Amino acid sequence: MPQRSWHRPDLCQGARGERLIRARRYSPTPNRSSFQLLEQRSNLLRSPVFTLTALEIPIIAAPMAGGASTPNLACAVSEAGGLGFLAGGYKTPEALAEQIVDVQQRTDHAFGVNLFIPQPPLTDRAAVETYRDALGREYSAATFGEIADADDDWFAEKVAVVIEHRVPVLSFTFGLPPRDAAERMHTAGSFLIATVTSVAEALQAVDRGVDALCVQGPESGGHRATFTTSDEPGTLALGELLIAIREVVTLPLIAAGGIHSGGQIASLLANGAAAVQLGTAFLRTDESGANPAHQSALLDPRFTETVITRAFSGRPARGLSNAFITAHDASAPHEYPQVHHLTKGLRADAARRGDPHGLALWAGTGFREASTGPAAAVLLGLWIDARAAVSS
Ligand SMILES: Cc1cc2nc3c(=O)[nH]c(=O)nc-3n(C[C@H](O)[C@H](O)[C@H](O)COP(=O)(O)O)c2cc1C
Repeated sequence: MPQRSWHRPDLCQGARGERLIRARRYSPTPNRSSFQLLEQRSNLLRSPVFTLTALEIPIIAAPMAGGASTPNLACAVSEAGGLGFLAGGYKTPEALAEQIVDVQQRTDHAFGVNLFIPQPPLTDRAAVETYRDALGREYSAATFGEIADADDDWFAEKVAVVIEHRVPVLSFTFGLPPRDAAERMHTAGSFLIATVTSVAEALQAVDRGVDALCVQGPESGGHRATFTTSDEPGTLALGELLIAIREVVTLPLIAAGGIHSGGQIASLLANGAAAVQLGTAFLRTDESGANPAHQSALLDPRFTETVITRAFSGRPARGLSNAFITAHDASAPHEYPQVHHLTKGLRADAARRGDPHGLALWAGTGFREASTGPAAAVLLGLWIDARAAVSS
């Protein structure tokens, strides 16, 4: 297996050294701690293994399954000094491998891949059938496939893909990777990030031996990462959740959820986050693959708020409140991914018609601030504002 050049300290140091100088220039009045941070980072650049402190800009473009994350977006963010991500969820292992190779051919910078942890088998088939029948009466032209007892999203095959391609950073949602898989991914040189939504989940993740935690607050767009589908996600705001987890965990923490400004980024970094992860902020960028109707809805005055719903997938997820959620939120069964598969055809049909009321318009609470333009400009703009907030 040829080694990727990001593993090679010589190349890595050269390219990263230049970029550090550039990042330094963005700070209007760099203070002592920002120089110490840069110093720490440049020391760590000699290490062959990825670390969060080696990022020039501690901003991660969140993995966003369903089309929003693209190789273009991952490359743009990683090349600009942040950490770009590919979303492994819902893709076939072959499609994921293609995207990984695409990114590796275009950048020597580290990037991440996110995988969905398999869920236990269906427990309440009758509830899913009742939901299907209700949807069938409303959407008479719709056809629904078989309701599978289980669907592991090809987890084992995708683990084999990321190991084969030596992906620098791997993150997980909806649970923790099994111990043996985590060990194999570690042996392949990957940096492992578990997404957690509570102190209890954080402690379990530490026990599993991951390298960092992504602390996902209730403001987050898309699915909550709770370890079980039945759990109602916590409501402790991101800042408080970060501090609560910081008190019991020494691993590096990544803060995620509703982040849309430099001031928020500066405050989360000051409160113990090693990096921040933003999804919604990148949804309208040039490199985003989000459906155009989804992108437009973020600015559409008809969509005024986000809500957490199980209507589209059976799992709690935050999105813009629309007609589908209003009609079906109360009756959606707590079964994932069966409900996700059930509504897939309806969502695809809404996408074809450009109807935002039938789409899962996943978005965090900061949705109105999502900017257009190149992802690199969005990333650098946020970082400049964060640096300015520190020194003001
Ligand atoms: C459209 C969309 C899709 C998402 N898909 C995933 C995913 O596949 N895996 C994952 O771990 N998180 C996913 N998330 C959640 C993000 O990782 C992150 O927690 C969230 O975007 C942070 O909140 P923000 O959107 O307010 O920035 C998704 C978020 C959005 C908005």
